[in-house]
Amino acid sequence: MGAGRADAEKKMAAEAAAELVEDGMSVGLGTGSTVAHLLPALAARDLDLRCVATSPQTEHQARELGLAVEDFDALVRLDIAIDGADQVAADGWAIKGGGGAHTREKIVAAAAERFVVIVDSGKLVDELTPPVPLELLEFGLSATLRGLGGLGDVRRRDAPPSPDGGLIADYFGAVGDPAELAARLSAVPGVVDHGLFPAAMVSEVVVAREGSVERL
Ligand code: 5RP
Repeated sequence: MGAGRADAEKKMAAEAAAELVEDGMSVGLGTGSTVAHLLPALAARDLDLRCVATSPQTEHQARELGLAVEDFDALVRLDIAIDGADQVAADGWAIKGGGGAHTREKIVAAAAERFVVIVDSGKLVDELTPPVPLELLEFGLSATLRGLGGLGDVRRRDAPPSPDGGLIADYFGAVGDPAELAARLSAVPGVVDHGLFPAAMVSEVVVAREGSVERL
């Protein structure tokens, strides 16, 4: 799919998801180019919202648009979190972290009553395929990479550290059963988190395809 069409679909999905937000809600805001379309759509609704951002980029854009971004700890609960994804499989599992923000994104998604994933149709896949993003603790990095090497090819990404100081890498081995891989990746000491998001965490996928929006 061309970049222009993908971007138009991202915008459509984002705008549809903005309509799911209601006055008075506390909202988790994801990260990425799809979320960059969500924020103006949300701001345009002029609702009374309390928001949490999953990255400094999102926080900056949201504040510029007049959305009230608060410290995560100031909010007891989140009614909804909305975020993009790199892949969403037919079984509902997703891969996130193309922007290296998956650790914060997962914490926010897990804290939300409802987690809505917004994607263009090119993100829908039959089965998840590598890479799977990783955030690694800087301390003991060589040992962590050795531990991960037993699972498959892992390469550090040429990207800045996360806002929490974690180093970003990608796992290029086979995905197979995502639950099994998720458990194996999490079991390696030094792995802060991986970008596999379980189907049970995803409440709904809003996907735009050729001018129409579907909710899965
Ligand atoms: C960032 C993410 C993004 O949601 C994911 O990479 C999709 O990005 P985009 O909306 O730019 O296609 O997980 O860590």
